[in-house]
Amino acid sequence: MSLLALREVTRTVIPQDQPALTILNGVDLVIEPGDHVSVVGRSGSGKSTLLNMLGLLDTPTSGEITFDDRPVKQYSAAQRDRLRGAAIGFVFQQFNLLPGRTALENVTMPLLYSTGRTFWRRKRIAADMLALVGLEHRLNSLPDRLSGGEQQRVAIARSLVRGPRLILADEPTGALDLDTGQSVMELIDDVAERTGAAQVIITHDPTIARRARRHFRLDRGVLTPVDDPAFEPLTRRDRKEMAPAAEDPLDDLAALGLADAHGSDA
Ligand SMILES: Nc1ncnc2c1ncn2[C@@H]1O[C@H](COP(=O)(O)OP(=O)(O)OP(=O)(O)O)[C@@H](O)[C@H]1O
Ligand SMILES: [Mg+2]
Repeated sequence: MSLLALREVTRTVIPQDQPALTILNGVDLVIEPGDHVSVVGRSGSGKSTLLNMLGLLDTPTSGEITFDDRPVKQYSAAQRDRLRGAAIGFVFQQFNLLPGRTALENVTMPLLYSTGRTFWRRKRIAADMLALVGLEHRLNSLPDRLSGGEQQRVAIARSLVRGPRLILADEPTGALDLDTGQSVMELIDDVAERTGAAQVIITHDPTIARRARRHFRLDRGVLTPVDDPAFEPLTRRDRKEMAPAAEDPLDDLAALGLADAHGSDA
C-alpha cells in the first residue's frame, strides 16, 4: 500500500494571450510510508508545482493522485483540506510565523481546529513539540526575538505538531547558514524516524539531497530518478538560477489546513 502516488501527472496552464505551458509532464512518483525522497532541479523546473500536487493543494490537468490508494479526486474540497491538515506537514524556506504571537501560540495554532482531548490538551502538546525541537526555554518568545534557526525550529514544530504522515519541505534550509541548516535537517529526520513519517525534500543543496534514501531530478517538468545527487554536481549557473523565489503566504494558510478551517474539522 502506498501513502501517496502520482501517476502520469501533468500540469498545464494557459497564461493570457500565450500558448499553453506544461509545468509538469508525465510525473510518476510513489511515496511509501516512512519514505525519504529528495528532488533537485533548477529554478522554474516545476519543483513548487510538484510540491503543491503532493500536498493536495493543486490538482493535475491529467493523470491521477492517490492518497492511501484512494484517488484524491473522489474527495470533496473540505475532505481534502481535512486530510491535508491531519496528514501532511509543510516546511518552507520562509518560516511564515505569525509575528505578534509567541512560539507557543504559533505551534498551538494548527491544534485549534482539532477536537476532544487534543483540543483541550493543545498547549501541552505544543509545548512538548517545542521541547522536542530544543526550544522549551523559548515558549513565550516572539519570532523577532528568535534567530533564523530557532524560527525554523518553531515552524517545524508547528508543521509536525499534528503528527503528519508526510512531511513536505521546499528549500527548508534556504534561509539558514550551513551548520544551522544541517541541524534543522537532522531534526526533521529525527522526528520523521520517530513517528514513521515519510519525507519529500525539495532542495538545491546536494548535501541535503544526499540525506534522502531515494533521489530525483526535475528538469522542465520531467521527473527522473538519479543514483546519487552528489555525482551530479550543480553548475554555478544552476545555483544562480536556483535563487530562492518568494512564497505566496496564502499558500501557507492552506498548507496549515487553515484555509478551509471553518467547519472542516468541527
Ligand atoms: N499559474 C501559473 N501560470 C503561469 N505560469 C506558471 C504558473 N505556475 C507556475 N508557472 C511557471 O511554471 C514554472 C515552474 O514553476 P515552479 O514555481 O514550480 O518552479 P520551481 O522549480 O519551484 O522554481 P524555484 O526554484 O524558482 O522556486 C515557472 O516557469 C513558472 O513561472
Ligand atoms: Mg519553487
